Amino acid sequence: MHSVQLSPDLLPKHIAIIMDGNGRWAKAQGKSRVFGHRKGVSAVRKTITMSAKLGIKALTLFAFSSENWQRPVEEVGVLMELFISVLSTEIKKLHKNNIRLCIVGDISRFSKSLQSKILHAENLTRNNDGLVVNIAANYGGRWDITQAVKNITEKVENGSMKSEDISEELIQSHLTMADLPEVDLMIRTSGECRISNFMLWQMAYAEMYFTPIFWPDFNEDCLVEAIDWYLNRERRFGCTSEQITTTTVSQ
Ligand code: IPE
Ligand code: IPE
Ligand code: MG
Repeated sequence: MHSVQLSPDLLPKHIAIIMDGNGRWAKAQGKSRVFGHRKGVSAVRKTITMSAKLGIKALTLFAFSSENWQRPVEEVGVLMELFISVLSTEIKKLHKNNIRLCIVGDISRFSKSLQSKILHAENLTRNNDGLVVNIAANYGGRWDITQAVKNITEKVENGSMKSEDISEELIQSHLTMADLPEVDLMIRTSGECRISNFMLWQMAYAEMYFTPIFWPDFNEDCLVEAIDWYLNRERRFGCTSEQITTTTVSQ
């Protein structure tokens, strides 16, 4: 395992991962796509364990997008089954490790039994103050912004808020994951260089790391490598390089 010591202050507070390439990974070995999804679970475990060990505050994993319903029914079925079984088998361990588990996305489309498992898992881990793990399921960045807009509109309609009150901060506070820092580092596996409707608002200033590795092969070293890369980025947030260097030096 990688042995670098990373200073907690410099680490990304919030890492978001598009776990992509399960299907291609499986196909490359002559297996069915769902074999790849099953294999992907161990990469999820490794990533969560390593993130907790490093002291990362929040980890958001893209498990199922709003658009993934368009996949073959059998594949969607297996993904749902996998979700239910993993949630049941892993939740105790997550809780024991002080991890807070949240499912972000429109869960109303899931089966009643999956919805109740989700609520149980979230309730159980609600007061844990270690790593926050968000599983983005039936999630889309556009859905997130849309539900925030609906929510705000209702408040304006019922008079509890005025349209002049609408600001970036207010919209932000109505998005999912509003209590967490914005994404510092976004990782996408499998060589695709796109966002695929992930956290559009929250990734406005994220550093984006793309690796050709397929998700089932992702491990602790891959995560540390991505973080190493992140640590060498100069995050300017619209300023000049000179401004950033001066601020850093005078701190
Ligand atoms: C990511 O792997 C998992 C999900 C989207 C559920 P894919 O299933 O997209 O794998 P590829 O991209 O087809 O290889
Ligand atoms: C994005 O991967 C969604 C998840 C990883 C859950 P996709 O494989 O669905 O994205 P596209 O379709 O290649 O953009
Ligand atoms: Mg894919």
